[in-house]
Order: sequence, then structure tokens, then C-alpha cells
Amino acid sequence: MRSVKIGILGLGTVGSGVYELLRHNGNLLESRSGVRVEVAMAVDLDASKKRELGIPGAVFSTDAADVIANPEVQIVVELIGGTSIAKELMLRAFQEGKHVVTANKALLAEHQAEIFGAALESEVDLGYEASVGGGIPIIKTIREALVGNVIRRVMGILNGTTNFILTKMTREGLDFESALRTAQKLGFAEADPTLDLSGGDARHKIVILASLAFNTAIDIGKVYVEGIEHIHKRDMQYAEELGFVLKLLAIAERLEEGVLVKVHPTLIPSDNPLAAISWEDNAVMVDSDFLGKSMYYGKGAGKRPTASAVVADIVDIARRIACGAGYDRGSYSFSQKLTQLSFNRSRSRYYLRFFVLDRPGILSKISGILGENDISIASVIQKETEEEHEHVPLVMMTHVAREADIVRAIEAIDKLPEVEGDSTIIRVIDGE
Ligand SMILES: NC(=O)c1ccc[n+]([C@@H]2O[C@H](COP(=O)([O-])OP(=O)(O)OC[C@H]3O[C@@H](n4cnc5c(N)ncnc54)[C@H](OP(=O)(O)O)[C@@H]3O)[C@@H](O)[C@H]2O)c1
Repeated sequence: MRSVKIGILGLGTVGSGVYELLRHNGNLLESRSGVRVEVAMAVDLDASKKRELGIPGAVFSTDAADVIANPEVQIVVELIGGTSIAKELMLRAFQEGKHVVTANKALLAEHQAEIFGAALESEVDLGYEASVGGGIPIIKTIREALVGNVIRRVMGILNGTTNFILTKMTREGLDFESALRTAQKLGFAEADPTLDLSGGDARHKIVILASLAFNTAIDIGKVYVEGIEHIHKRDMQYAEELGFVLKLLAIAERLEEGVLVKVHPTLIPSDNPLAAISWEDNAVMVDSDFLGKSMYYGKGAGKRPTASAVVADIVDIARRIACGAGYDRGSYSFSQKLTQLSFNRSRSRYYLRFFVLDRPGILSKISGILGENDISIASVIQKETEEEHEHVPLVMMTHVAREADIVRAIEAIDKLPEVEGDSTIIRVIDGE
């Protein structure tokens, strides 16, 4: 039996899960893969991790440099997180000719060219299954199972915190603040939840998926992102009456002119399979030319699901090392040069909600402005006045329109004296 030695950097939530999985299921892994994975070094700043996890003294260190310098370590497992020290260590590992496995979506999305370029230059493998969808094997699926397919669209619920909050608002009628507090109390939202709520975390993940699916580099700066902080339970209720469920979707589409990558709250029909993905769960739907639509669902974060994905990457690379195969260059060369389109070019149906004075003529003024901007209305519902409110909610669903046209029209509508405050725009994915 060949044995492959690894070094783990960071023994926090995911790192400790990886150490435990390798200890508990090591024999199973060996019998299934024909390779023994040995932890040569495990590093954390906090020395108490050694006792907590029962790590032998000769294996534990508080200095990450020990892993990079150790000639026995063939695979470095980076589970520190962040984009500073983790990046430095990863680049040094590549220079030393070591393969790397990571769960670090922020680093891969924000420094894509540098990290993937350095791995290619050093001719080493980079495993990153755990960076998207936690335990869901979506990277392997796109890379291997769908390798013969042209991928048209990848669309998913990629953030458990926001999905938990939106589920709470939908099912229990809570407002955003109360749903967030519950999520924090139950450990589904961080004390500082900004990255999750703003859509930033989902944006990291869709950048990684889009570059793999379309085999092209993706510039995170050109990815449209809108979070859920401004979502009002009132709009979720109106949308429900129309047969839609609100989800934070990350979407990457291959269009004729290029690729479009975006993250925003989206209304989806209640019979769409993604509508059933509730609480902290994640799911990714892939639309490809030969397979058609397929969906992958499961736990998108957490110690054990994420460790499961990290270990799968370790074993993949260990197998290649054991049988003398070269590194897997095709997985991240992103060799196509596709134009990344601006969000202005996005097209979808729209849910629009205005607060208007209940006066004759206002509906024709609004529909006139929409018409001038090439937007046609599919349905209109005027709701009852809310308590002590002079203005009434007016809800419209449009046919497919262009983002740039909608933005222009709403700007004009919001200037009408009969319209109060900023109107709400929510993109709608129909039964395509
Ligand atoms: N948690 C999840 O469910 C999840 C899911 C998917 C992906 N990920 C990704 O996985 C990575 C790790 O996340 P995590 O939740 O496990 O984070 P975490 O719990 O904060 O663990 C990070 C660990 O690294 C240690 N560390 C920090 N600087 C170090 C250094 N210079 N040398 C050695 N150890 C150092 C930290 O020690 P101290 O605490 O003493 O600073 C901590 O124990 C991140 O990239 C994250 O985005 C996490």
C-alpha cells in the first residue's frame, strides 16, 4: 500500500473535521482507494488543539512554515481561510512543488488568475471541491461527470445563511431583522453576517463555478451582486400569492455574446425544484446540452459536510501521486477567452412593487413609462391600503425585459409625485 503524506494548515471548524474524518474512516479510505493518507503535520495557532484532537506531539506545530518546509509533506491542506496568510502559504506550497487542497472560496474567487496560474506553473494539483456547496460534490460533477457537455447555465442557492433567513420569513411571516436574529441564535449566521447577507459569499462561489463550467477566467469585479438586506416580507407574501418563492440565486449563463454572472434575490415558481430547497441547505442546478437539467443538493457548510469534500480531494490527488499520474491541468487552465457581459444586458421577467396614491390616472402613467422603455406588463394587482398609509401597494409582473430598460423606467417612475419612496424590483425566473 502506497502512503501519501499531508500537512493540515488550520484546525478550526473544517480542519478539525478533516483530522477526525481521516482518523475515524482512515481504514475505509485505504480499502476503497488503495492509498494510505497520513497526516505528517497539523498546524494551528492555538496549541490546545493538539490535546483537543489527540494529535501526537511530533505531528503538531503552531508554525505553518513547518508544513511548507517539511519535505515529506506532498499535499498541503489549507484551511486557515482569508486572503492574506493563506495566499502566501499556498503560493509557497506551489513553489515547493506541493499539491494543495483548500476550501477557501474567497481566495480562489478574488485572486483567481494568480492562484490558478501559480498552480499551473508549478505543475501541481489544486483541489477545491469544498469551496462551493460544502459537502455537495459539484466541482467534481462539472469537471468529470459533465465533461462532455456544453454547459448553458449554472444556477444555485449557494449560501445557507440567507436561505435560512428567507425560509424563516416565508414560512413564519417574520420580518428580516427577526429572522436574522433567529439565524444568529441558532448558529446559522455569524455575529457579523455582512458577507453572507450582501451576496458576497454566493458571489465568491458562483465565480468559481462559472470559470469551471465555461472554462474561462471570471473577473469578480464584473459580477453583479445584490443581497437580501432590503427584502420586505410584504413582497414575499405578494409573490407567494402569485405562485412564486423568493430565493437568493447565484446564476452564471452562457449567452451568444459571452457569459453573464450575477447574484440577486430572485422569484422562482413554487413548482421549480429550487423552490423546495429550504433552511440552511444548498443546491445547484446545471443545464447542459446532452444531459439537460440536473440538480445537486445537500449541506452547503458545516464541519462534517465540508470535511467530506476536502478529504475527497485529498484522496483524488493521493491516488494520482500513488499511481505516478501527472497533475490534472485540465481542471483549471480556463483556456477559453469569453467576454464577461455587464448586468445591463441581463434579461428576465420582473416583479415591480410601487407605493402609489390611490388616484385615477396613475396606473396609465406608470404603464406609459414602462411602455416607452420596451417593457410590457403581464399582470397588475392593486393591494389594500396598509394601516395609516395614504399610499397603496401596486404590484406588477412584466414580460421578459432588459435590465437597462427596467432601471431607466423605474428611475422615471420614482420621480412621479404620486409615487412614494423607492420602488421594489425583483427579478423573476420563469418555468424555463
Ligand atoms: N466552516 C464552514 O462550514 C466552511 C464551509 C466551506 C468552506 N469553508 C472555508 O474553509 C476555510 C476554513 O474555515 P473554518 O470555518 O474552518 O475557519 P476557522 O474555524 O476560523 O478555522 C481556521 C483555523 O485556522 C487557524 N489559523 C489562523 N491563522 C493561522 C496560521 N497562521 N497558522 C495556522 N493556523 C492558523 C485558526 O486559529 P485561531 O482560531 O487560533 O486564529 C483557526 O483554528 C475558510 O476558507 C472557509 O471559507 C468553511
